[in-house]
Amino acid sequence: MKKASFSMNGKETRYEPGQMVLDAAQANGIHIPTLCHLKGTSPTGACRICLVEIAGARSLMAACSTPVTEGMEVSTESERVHKARKMNVELLLASGKHDCLICEASGDCRLQDLAYSYGIKELRFPQDDKFYPTEDENPFIIRDFSRCIRCGRCIHACNEVVVNRAISYGYRGKNSKVVTGGDGPYTDSECVFCGQCVEVCPVGALTEKKAKGRARAWETKKIRTTCPYCGVGCQQWLHVKDGKITKVTAVEDGEPNMGRLCVKGRFGYDFIYSEDRLKTPLIRENGDFREASWDEALDLVAEKFKEIIAKDGPDAIAGVSCARSINEDSYQMQKLFRAVIGTNNIDHCART
Ligand code: SF4
Ligand code: SF4
Ligand code: SF4
Ligand code: FES
Repeated sequence: MKKASFSMNGKETRYEPGQMVLDAAQANGIHIPTLCHLKGTSPTGACRICLVEIAGARSLMAACSTPVTEGMEVSTESERVHKARKMNVELLLASGKHDCLICEASGDCRLQDLAYSYGIKELRFPQDDKFYPTEDENPFIIRDFSRCIRCGRCIHACNEVVVNRAISYGYRGKNSKVVTGGDGPYTDSECVFCGQCVEVCPVGALTEKKAKGRARAWETKKIRTTCPYCGVGCQQWLHVKDGKITKVTAVEDGEPNMGRLCVKGRFGYDFIYSEDRLKTPLIRENGDFREASWDEALDLVAEKFKEIIAKDGPDAIAGVSCARSINEDSYQMQKLFRAVIGTNNIDHCART
């Protein structure tokens, strides 16, 4: 069957029926800048940064929310397109407090990148003087709506990606703002502090409290790893500076979490630097613990198991494995109990 085609920048280009111009462009290696677009969620066409020129259309169209049609002629880099995108960036810069020098997102901000790439050298429009107080009453997330560009990505992430439905748009027109129910702090809302909204915010309106002041984006290296907390095995990036983790983000297209993390995976990494962390086995003697080697500790456990089996039989022992361990470890645990110890008394903590 002949695949449908349209013209992009004068070249015949294939597309899947139903595809938006942006998706077709990306599939064909053509870059169109975006701000509000969030992969896998419904398009809103809110930021007007992805504007393209379509032959016969009266105005420029948002590539993220315009479906491709057979024979359409699209231009992604015309002078008219550049001028419009540049003006939209200028308007966004004027709509809030964009003092990059002291913004935590500097170096990792799409608005800053766009201002640079469109050669904006000065602020052409008068700056909005409506500033909001910063909210940081919770341990994880700082909300600064003076830097919010109302792209709606956080709302889409919360409602469509992690489906917690903690935030939405509130108020009208110029006063429109991202709010929790009742416009209170996150702590008084349905928020579960998964941090997905922070992950997708393209500017410095939502930032991580624990990461504040610890590293600029260009000072860290990203190391891919598997979350240590549970058997799901979420893929994450550790942002590391001088050998220390400064923050954790999700691997965007990595199975199985596909860009999501929960509160533990995203924010619960500082235990590894805790002074109280156990680093060796401990053996209790005369009511006190003393440090021991793994060989000594394992020998002691094996000896005690043998004593119990000799006295009361193998069914006097039961094992409960951790449901957060990997499948292979759970398999080994039941094998140890059934084949080595000789009992079927084996379970795991997910049933408690
Ligand atoms: S949000 Fe971006 S553009 Fe605004 S101050 Fe921060 S770094 Fe600069
Ligand atoms: S932290 Fe998670 S639950 Fe809370 S507002 Fe953000 S996305 Fe929604
Ligand atoms: S808080 Fe961030 S993600 Fe949410 S609307 Fe504002 S700029 Fe967009
Ligand atoms: S990315 Fe298309 S309108 Fe924002």
